[in-house]
Amino acid sequence: MIAQAQAQPHAKKRVLVPTMGALHKAHAELIHVAREHAGHDGEVAVSIFVNPLQFEPGSDYERYPRPEKADEEFCQKAGVDLLFRPSVAEMYAGDRSVFIDASSLANTLEGRSRPGHFRGVCTVVAKLFNILSPDAALFGEKDFQQLAIVRRMVRDLNFKIDIVAVPTVREEDGLAYSSRNQYLTVQERKQAPVLYQALRAAANAGKKSAADVVAIARKVIGEAPLARIDYVEVVDAENLQPVERVGLNSVLLLAVFFGKTRLIDNIRLS
Ligand code: PAJ
Repeated sequence: MIAQAQAQPHAKKRVLVPTMGALHKAHAELIHVAREHAGHDGEVAVSIFVNPLQFEPGSDYERYPRPEKADEEFCQKAGVDLLFRPSVAEMYAGDRSVFIDASSLANTLEGRSRPGHFRGVCTVVAKLFNILSPDAALFGEKDFQQLAIVRRMVRDLNFKIDIVAVPTVREEDGLAYSSRNQYLTVQERKQAPVLYQALRAAANAGKKSAADVVAIARKVIGEAPLARIDYVEVVDAENLQPVERVGLNSVLLLAVFFGKTRLIDNIRLS
């Protein structure tokens, strides 16, 4: 099941789920949807690579969870056909000098809080596409900006790959699954569902002014003493620019710290 870093010609339809490992239920859902897209004759490929390029200096690259054995078993159980788990040295030459930048889409939201993050994401995703040459690749809506940027990269650079979006998978209390949830203390974990509560309260209030929507979300989050807001914004789903009036294509996104752990989530406002 484990493949080496090489572009192999393949006759079967190949559907790729790129991940950084520490696999959880949301990844399982992506793999499940990938299987549906690949069909019985096709193959589901999963990549696991904790990509140093997308971590800002001083962030959690070193402590990012890497449960290699458990991830391998997870893939086996999920019926993954091909697991691609390259080393950093295999992926990046020491004298690398070409990167992919997402410019306007990458300067807002996550990109503003995490400079260089999307350059790292675009570069690694493009490399994975070239190495594994999938017919389709799946990305979760939880990382809304990442999905929008990958779509734009595929369009702008003419990758012949279908990008499939998978709705956010949540725990029973509404918290979106994330490999970073395991950093939360017991108290932080108790309060973290406030994010989805805030998103739903803001979306369901039926407000047309983006400022009103943001105010509702901020108020709900404010009730959780351990939460520290990084941003709460209403933007256009295509160009990710802030909007003043809520329209059919508007999305509410937030990033909130619990201690050192930064969680993101979003909801469509249409
Ligand atoms: P990672 O955080 O491991 O996520 C892998 C994929 O799972 C991404 O497409 C992400 O959006 C999706 N995902 C994670 N949690 C989800 C949830 N609760 N619901 C739905 N989808 C979810 O995202 C990355 O890795 C990396 O940036 C990567 C694309 C692999 C590039 O390095």
